[in-house]
Amino acid sequence: MAGNGKDRRLHARTTTTPAYFRFRRSSLFLLSILVLLGIFTVALFLSQRQISAVDRDPFSRSQLFQVSEEKLWGSSLGYGYHPCAKPTSKYSAPEDWDRYITVKSNGGLNQMRTGISDMVAVARLMNATLVVPQLDKRSFWQDTSTFEDIFDEAYFIETLKGDIRVVKELPKELESAPRARKHFTSWSGSAYYEEIARLFKDNKVIHVPKSDSRLANNDLPLDIQRLRCRTLYQALRFASPIETLGKKLVAQLQSKGRYIALHLRYEKDMLSFTGCTYGLTDQEAEELKVMRENTNHWKMKGINSTEQRIGGFCPLTPKEVGIFLQALGYPKSTWIYLAAGEIYGGDAYLSDLRSYFPNLVTKVCLFSF
Ligand SMILES: *[C@@H]1O[C@H](CO)[C@@H](O)[C@H](O)[C@H]1NC(C)=O
Ligand SMILES: *[C@@H]1O[C@H](CO)[C@@H](O)[C@H](O)[C@H]1NC(C)=O
Repeated sequence: MAGNGKDRRLHARTTTTPAYFRFRRSSLFLLSILVLLGIFTVALFLSQRQISAVDRDPFSRSQLFQVSEEKLWGSSLGYGYHPCAKPTSKYSAPEDWDRYITVKSNGGLNQMRTGISDMVAVARLMNATLVVPQLDKRSFWQDTSTFEDIFDEAYFIETLKGDIRVVKELPKELESAPRARKHFTSWSGSAYYEEIARLFKDNKVIHVPKSDSRLANNDLPLDIQRLRCRTLYQALRFASPIETLGKKLVAQLQSKGRYIALHLRYEKDMLSFTGCTYGLTDQEAEELKVMRENTNHWKMKGINSTEQRIGGFCPLTPKEVGIFLQALGYPKSTWIYLAAGEIYGGDAYLSDLRSYFPNLVTKVCLFSF
């Protein structure tokens, strides 16, 4: 592509245009200006008529902006996106590497999931065997669940057999062996990890204390990208009690027709961490500030919440989400499933959203139906 562009530029520079041709070009230019002017005038006339129609009759405004059902719900077709988790024909089976990566996954569930899929790809890049990751128990939720509680561990190990070797635990003889500890540099590509693999020269085990280093998105081998997808969408299946519960929830929702699953990102820890206090009371803003100051592993302390919001770094408030969804054209009767944790301020703020969309449900109330 780049080569083509260069050729075209060279060509343009070396071609000279004969005089008569130049004349023909300029008259063509004039003609197109006239045509454009004509189109513009007609368009202006039509839009004026529409505007005055709206002024006369306020109801025609809503008709003008009415969005079809198909447009409102059409994204279920995924705009032509399709799964690409299958390995290419060049992909080879892994060897049984006798060197190991142990990982402590950090963050909330979503962050841990992406982190784990990155670590699977990293283990493949580094020709290492992955020990089943440990999940974060320190974060806001104080969740003591293990990998096995949340995910189907046997299925994870089995599904990745053609990609990397995954073991439940380090072999006995390595449990007390010295390990290299490595915080990976964020957004690194394959060259970085191949370089890091040198640490295996002196250690059989590399320990990774955080999994959120986010593997690069560009310039990775296609099969590594596909491996990430395979891990996220196939290997990381929830443990069967969670899977069963989730299916029940979805069936409940589907029995009501179409619904929106909404993650507001309006939880206490999120607002405290980002310093987003717009629309909250002074006491609430203070409570969030104190929480931020007392959470050691959050590095940013002094945040100007006005600047955060102006900069576009804050979630919409529940009320703004109501206004936004209504403006997109969703009718008031639309069912909304609140897929988030506990909303900060509880019903005081949630009721703002409920006034736009009364059919608002959470997992808890879905079960009491
Ligand atoms: C991993 O193994 C492959 C195939 O044996 C080899 O080409 C590659 O250089 C190895 N990479 C590392 C980081 O050891
Ligand atoms: C926060 O930022 C806003 C906008 O830049 C500014 O007007 C305000 O004085 C700042 N507040 C503090 C406490 O610094």
